[in-house]
Amino acid sequence: MELVHDIASLRAQLARWQQAGKRWGLIPTMGNLHAGHLSLVRLAQAEVDCVVVSIFVNPLQFGEDEDFAQYPRTLAADCDALRRLGCDLVFCPDVSELYPAQGRQTRLQADPQLASRFEGALRPGHFDGVVTVVAKLFNLVQPHLAVFGQKDYQQLCVIQAMVADLNWPIELLRGPIARDTDGLALSSRNQYLDARQRKIAPQLYQVLQDLAHNLTQPLQPLTDASPALCWQQLQADATEKLLALGFDAVDYIAWVDQERLTEVTVAEQPSVLLVVARLGTTRLLDNLEL
Ligand code: PAF
Repeated sequence: MELVHDIASLRAQLARWQQAGKRWGLIPTMGNLHAGHLSLVRLAQAEVDCVVVSIFVNPLQFGEDEDFAQYPRTLAADCDALRRLGCDLVFCPDVSELYPAQGRQTRLQADPQLASRFEGALRPGHFDGVVTVVAKLFNLVQPHLAVFGQKDYQQLCVIQAMVADLNWPIELLRGPIARDTDGLALSSRNQYLDARQRKIAPQLYQVLQDLAHNLTQPLQPLTDASPALCWQQLQADATEKLLALGFDAVDYIAWVDQERLTEVTVAEQPSVLLVVARLGTTRLLDNLEL
């Protein structure tokens, strides 16, 4: 496995693959890799000849009061895990390599309808930062396919929209959420949880599953109200339950369609439940497709 930090070395390696007629895939990451990331590498390996993993903690997608400086950086351990897996190339640039203009660079704007809600409403500018760096990585690596995890569901939708809007000939694969044995969705931020919070955390998935189960029951018999009102009741009950279980806040629980993330009120169309709850300052994201 090769580790490169600069664009020239990345391009040199890609040119060799191009000459050898290889197809390659990209998995963009911010490092601190866990089993979820590694499952994305395996997905790509099943489809293409070579796999590039980028490791870059992207300052553009962090707000001023967010954890950019503290975000865990574990390059040696990440490279060991990737090497064991048979990854071909790791691209790990410095901030100055990707953003030499130091803040004056061109930025992309994510689809405003998709990006202004949920995570985008709570983290203004976040998705513009994500699409800007992903666009740069796509331009630099020119992959045949790219893999993103389904845990960041809204991110996946925003990137899918960008690829369609900008006509990139890149196939996007979705990696299913990897979970710990107790159901907690794997995330680099889980390590911020203390022992008490870690015990509470898996119940987020439990509540999500109960909610999904209730939504697939006929809603009408619950009350005489419309399905939308019944959803509001289920949503309020789930919020109350999470708070009773020890979560400190519930940022949102939403029931939306799988592509445009607009609210749905009937269980017939493909939909997804999105939930974000906080334990202390740690935000836990989860989702479940129906
Ligand atoms: O999901 C992530 O780790 C990041 O948002 C991504 C896609 C690597 C862009 O920085």
